[in-house]
Amino acid sequence: MAESFQAPKGTRDVLPPESGRWQALVAAFARVVGRAGYGLVQSPMFEDIGVFRRLGEGTEVVRKEMYDFRDKGDRHLALRPEGTASVVRAFNQHRPTVPWKVWYLTPCFRYEEPQAGRFRQHHQVGIEAIGSADPDLDVEVIALQHDFYRAVGLGTLSLRLNSMGTPADRRAYAARLAGWLGERIDDIDEADRANAAEFPLRVLDSKRERTRAVTTEAPKLIDGLSGEAADHFGRVRSGLDALGIAHHIDPTLVRGLDYYTHTTWEFAAGALSTAQNAVGGGGRYDGLAESLGGRPAPGVGFGAGIERILLAADAEGALTPDTGAVEVFVVDVAGGEAGRDLTFELRRAGVAADRAFDGRSMKAQMKVADRSGARLALLIGDDELAADTVTVRHLRADQPQVALLRPEVVEGVRRILD
Ligand code: HAM
Repeated sequence: MAESFQAPKGTRDVLPPESGRWQALVAAFARVVGRAGYGLVQSPMFEDIGVFRRLGEGTEVVRKEMYDFRDKGDRHLALRPEGTASVVRAFNQHRPTVPWKVWYLTPCFRYEEPQAGRFRQHHQVGIEAIGSADPDLDVEVIALQHDFYRAVGLGTLSLRLNSMGTPADRRAYAARLAGWLGERIDDIDEADRANAAEFPLRVLDSKRERTRAVTTEAPKLIDGLSGEAADHFGRVRSGLDALGIAHHIDPTLVRGLDYYTHTTWEFAAGALSTAQNAVGGGGRYDGLAESLGGRPAPGVGFGAGIERILLAADAEGALTPDTGAVEVFVVDVAGGEAGRDLTFELRRAGVAADRAFDGRSMKAQMKVADRSGARLALLIGDDELAADTVTVRHLRADQPQVALLRPEVVEGVRRILD
C-alpha cells in the first residue's frame, strides 16, 4: 500500500457542516465591518522575513515560531504569523487615502506547541485602520470587535484594556523596568533572565510562576503615562462608556507583539478555559508604518481567532450549523438524463438543488435525499417520463405528493417552497 498522510501537526481540515459555521462567522464579520466602511484587503501569505521581524526581535513569534524559508531565488521569506504587518507593508507600498479602513480573513502560521485552542495554522478575521491618531478610531475598532462577537451570539465576554503610552513613554518605561528587573534578576525564573535587560516587557508577559511572583510588584506603565497618552486613553475609555461597552483596566496586559503604542486590549471568552481564552486582541501601532520604511502613519486594529470563537460558540450553543444546504433533491430512476437536466434547470433558476449519482435504486437515492436536508424530492421514473411529468414528494412535511407537468416544474417548485 502507498504511504498515507495526515494533516501536519497543529493543523486541521475544516469540513462541512463545520465549514458552514465558518462561512456564517465570516459573513457576520463582513457585515459588521462592511457597514462601518471597511473594505476587504488581500495580501500575500508570505513576505520578506524583514516585514515580520518588526513584530519584535524579543517576541516568541519572531524568535521561535516563524515558518521561514529560502525560495529558489534565495529570497528569505516567511509565512505570515499575523495579519497586521502585511497590511501595513501594503499601505506603505500603495499609499491609499487615509484613514485607510480594511478587513481581512487570513490563515496565520506560528510554530507553537499545539493544544486545545492553539494551532500551528490558525485563522483570523481582523481590521486595520491606518492614518489617523484620533482616539475615536480606537473606540470604533473596539466597538466593531465587540459587535462582531455579539453578532455571532457570544454572550460571556470580558474586555481588558491597557495603555502602552506614546513611543517615548514605552521606551522610558522599558529602561526603568530593565533596571528594576536587574535588581531582582536572581528571583525571576532562569528562562526569563536573558530577556530582562534587552526585552524587559517580554518578562512581564512571562507565564512562569517564579517570574510572575516578582513582576506583580513591578512598576506599571499606566502609572507613568505622559499627559498626551493619559488624555488619549481617557478619551478611549469615555467613548467605550458612551457606547455601553464594559471594560476593565488591566495594567499587566502586555500583548505578545512589540509594535503596540497607546491603547491595547484583549477580549476573553468566559466559556473557555483561561489558558487559551483570548478570542481576539488588538491595539494601536503608531510607529509600525515608519519602522517598515514608510512615512509616519498611526494605525489601530484587531485580530480575532476563528477557531477560538467557534470553541466559545460551542460552549455557549451559538452558531449552530445550518443543515439543509439544498432545497430540493432530484431522484431519477429512469436513466439519469432527465434528472441531470432538471437539476441544472432548477439551479439556473436560483433553486438550490442536488441529485444522486451512479444510477442507484429508488431506496438508496431517497436515503441521500433525506440526508441532504432538502424539503422536496422530485421523482422521475418511467411513468413520469412517459407522461412528461415530475412527482413532488414532501420530505419535511406531512403533505400529499403532487404531479407537475415537466415544463411547469420550476414554477411549481417555487410556489411550493414559498
Ligand atoms: P494576537 O493576539 O497575536 O494578535 O492574535 C489575535 C488572536 O488570534 C488571538 O486573540 C487568538 O484568538 C488568535 N490566535 C493567536 N494565536 C493562535 C494560535 N496559535 N491558535 C489559535 N488561535 C490563535 C495579532 O495577531 C495582531 N495582529 C492583532 C492586531 C491587529 N493588532 C492590531 N491589529
